[in-house]
Amino acid sequence: MIEEKISLQQTENSIDTKLVSDDAEGISIAAQAIAAGKLVAFPTETVYGLGGNALSPDAAMNIYAAKGRPSDNPLIVHIAETSAVNELATDIPENANALMEAFWPGPLTIILPKKPCVPDATTGGLSTVAIRMPSHPAALQLIRESGVYIAAPSANTSGRPSPTTAQHVAEDLGGRIDVIIDGGPVGIGIESTIVDLTGEVPTILRPGYITKAMLESIVGHVEIDRALIEDDPTLRPKAPGMKYTHYAPKGTLSIVEDSDTPSVATDKVVEKINSITGELLSENKKVVVLTTADMADKYLCTDKILLGEHGNGETVAARLYAALRECDKIGADFILSESFNRDDLGGAIMNRLLKAAGHRVITV
Ligand code: TXA
Ligand code: MG
Repeated sequence: MIEEKISLQQTENSIDTKLVSDDAEGISIAAQAIAAGKLVAFPTETVYGLGGNALSPDAAMNIYAAKGRPSDNPLIVHIAETSAVNELATDIPENANALMEAFWPGPLTIILPKKPCVPDATTGGLSTVAIRMPSHPAALQLIRESGVYIAAPSANTSGRPSPTTAQHVAEDLGGRIDVIIDGGPVGIGIESTIVDLTGEVPTILRPGYITKAMLESIVGHVEIDRALIEDDPTLRPKAPGMKYTHYAPKGTLSIVEDSDTPSVATDKVVEKINSITGELLSENKKVVVLTTADMADKYLCTDKILLGEHGNGETVAARLYAALRECDKIGADFILSESFNRDDLGGAIMNRLLKAAGHRVITV
């Protein structure tokens, strides 16, 4: 894919955001900025992160301010060596070591009781800390060279889809942060799996690329936070960030699903999408269909955005957030999406898509 030329918007009150590449020189500039207490957006294998010194309350507050994020929503601490876990956390259970061994570096975040050195500003006042060792070489090099642990939420404005390219970061945070490292499009495309290891049974607080089955193959039975699977608004998700409306495009997004076979866009789904499209177009609305490549030809709508291939979750995850951002660029009033299976990686994709849709599902 040819990368678009990245444009950085500067306004009167904005700071001068440096855009650097992910080579040794770029990472060195970024590492110096982090060490000096500034903010740097950097690529990881999941999504781009907005990093600052994890042990500095000021850096954490600046991260919240740059994103427009509520400060009760804790940050993930990114590390480059497993030994860092002993400095940040206490009461580390044996299953934590087993999971680190199996999945680090990689898209898994673990929650453990925090040590006093981790400021409340970083953990949103919680007594636990989220820790992850990313596998992206630029991220690892940035952590090592800056000499600090890096607190990093996704590098989007709060409420927008997470960024999967440096261009997305520039759109949201250009003029508000010091450096953006451009490492091209990320590999996975949705955020890390979060697993809470502070209770009796490991519990998934956010589904991701590392699936329940993968975790269970290492530590036995794993639970999923009930607030993620039950349609009960009184249940509060254990990861504070999961309670916010997220990833939402500006237009109204609905998922169209065949209740008999939710994982396939059947003829019934196509018919429904085409009939809704017809109605909306007759009202002069801008309609976009989010479709897998194999189904795209079946839709009457001219504005189609491809999401990858059905049955190949990795291609869908990689495209999902960019697709939601494209809906905004096109100025979509209404967006109709196919649905995906809810197992494994599909479960993580549907978790994000349902949130983006405010849980609007049209069943046929
Ligand atoms: O893949 C990722 O995890 C990306 C990249 C940049 O590493 N980061 C990311 O961070 O997605 P963020 O801030 O967008 O999401 C962090 C999530 C939030 O839902 C937050 O509430 C939860 O992690 N979290 C952080 N610390 C927690 C804690 N101590 N207990 C429970 N949930 C926590
Ligand atoms: Mg985020």
